[in-house]
Formats: sequence, C-alpha cells, structure tokens
Amino acid sequence: MEYQVVIPAAGRGKRMKADRNKLLLELDGAPIIVHTLQVFDRDPLCQGIFVAIHPDEREEFDALIDRHDIGKDIRLVDGGEERQDSVYQALLEVDHEVVLVHDGARPFISRSVIHELAERAWETGGAIAAVPVKDTIKKVMDGKVEETIERSSLWMVQTPQAFRVSSLKSAHDAARDEGFLGTDDASLVERLGEDVSIVESDYDNIKLTTPEDMFFAEAILKKRTEGGKHHV
Ligand code: CTP
Ligand code: MG
Repeated sequence: MEYQVVIPAAGRGKRMKADRNKLLLELDGAPIIVHTLQVFDRDPLCQGIFVAIHPDEREEFDALIDRHDIGKDIRLVDGGEERQDSVYQALLEVDHEVVLVHDGARPFISRSVIHELAERAWETGGAIAAVPVKDTIKKVMDGKVEETIERSSLWMVQTPQAFRVSSLKSAHDAARDEGFLGTDDASLVERLGEDVSIVESDYDNIKLTTPEDMFFAEAILKKRTEGGKHHV
C-alpha cells in the first residue's frame, strides 16, 4: 500500500543535552534526521515526505537535504510548540489516503514494518509499531507497589503509527477542539473509540532521546554493517 509520511522534527532535544536540535547531531557521517529521511526517500511505496521543522532551522534543513542527495520531494512545514502541534501542521498538507507519522528521532525503522503498517492501516483504520515489554512493570504510588501488571498484555509503543488520513485528521481536530494533548497519535484516535492494531516491530527501532542513546545507535549501526544487513 502506498502512503505519505509526516515526520515531526521540530523539537528542541532538551534531554539530549546537546547545543542544538539533537536531530542535527551526526551519526556515521550524516545527521540523525538524514538517516531517517533516507529510509523513506528510498522506499518506492512512499509518495511524499512532510517534515515539521522549527522555523529557525529551515535553512539548515534545506541545506542538509541538498547535501545528502535526498531525491524525493520533501516538504518542510513549520512545526509548533508540542509534538502534537507539529504533526497537525504537517498533516494539513497530506493528500494521500494513508499516512504514517514517524519520529525524526527514530532512524532505525525497517522497511518491512513500514509496509505492514501501511497495509494494516488501510484495511483497519489504524496500526502502530510496538514491541513486547521485556521487564516486569509495577504500578507504584508514593514509593509503594500497588500492583504487578501482567506482562503479556504490555507493549512498548513506537512510531511509525499509520492511519487512514480521514481518521487521523478528525482525531487531531477533535483533540484540538477539546484541548486534549496525547503522547502519541494513536491515543487521539483511540479516544474516539476507533480500533488501533499492533504491528510487531523490533528493539532496534529506538528513539534517540538521551546522550547514552548515541552509543546504542553506534552499536546498532555497527551490527548492521558487520552483518552486511541493510535496514530494509
Ligand atoms: N517534535 C516536534 N515538535 C515539537 C516537539 C517534538 O516535531 N514541538 C519531534 C522531535 O523533533 C522528535 C519527535 O517529535 O523527532 C519525538 O520527540 P522527542 O523525542 O521528545 O524530541 P524532543 O522534543 O526534541 O526532545 P526533548 O523532549 O528531550 O526536548
Ligand atoms: Mg519532546
């Protein structure tokens, strides 16, 4: 199933503690955001890339897209205060029936997961990438354990999150009208009572958030190079 992708990249990267937007930090000779963009640039099913950026970084993004030879037409849209606002702004530009939302900060997404998500979103309305939780999770109140949550029902949710565009647009409109701020896009769709299904992803698809994640990223790249395996 063909799709378009919205990539929120307008954050400040505060937890990374760098002197600039973490997506501009280099990994193996290219900024993190370039690694993410290349995955979609090289995917023949991707029919358009809409990146939400911070207005102050427009020139920098233009230059790096040029320098790293990204062939597909990439449209840069001014993002907003919160991630949800950034996604909303980019979503206004989407003109395809299926849309994926994918964090600029997750460069290791695999093409097979992307394709499965697009397919499932078209069939069912919404599908999100996730992996089973490995640790035991407990609910804690005031430093005291209240409950051990049964692990087999817990999933760690990632992006991409894929939707029929009409469904995601209505969900964003409703959330804005009602002042609801969700931590991911699926939560906006779920609160309208719509079904969202899981596509099992892999543990490499980390979000680069804190400084130690840069070491994990190097390790993932090294594993891929040594294994001769490309992230498709
Ligand atoms: N993002 C965005 N617009 C915002 C906030 C975040 O487009 N107003 C993007 C980020 O650039 C990132 C993705 O949403 O690609 C996931 O957010 P996160 O990992 O939290 O990145 P930051 O918000 O930049 O980092 P931090 O929360 O540490 O400041
Ligand atoms: Mg953030």
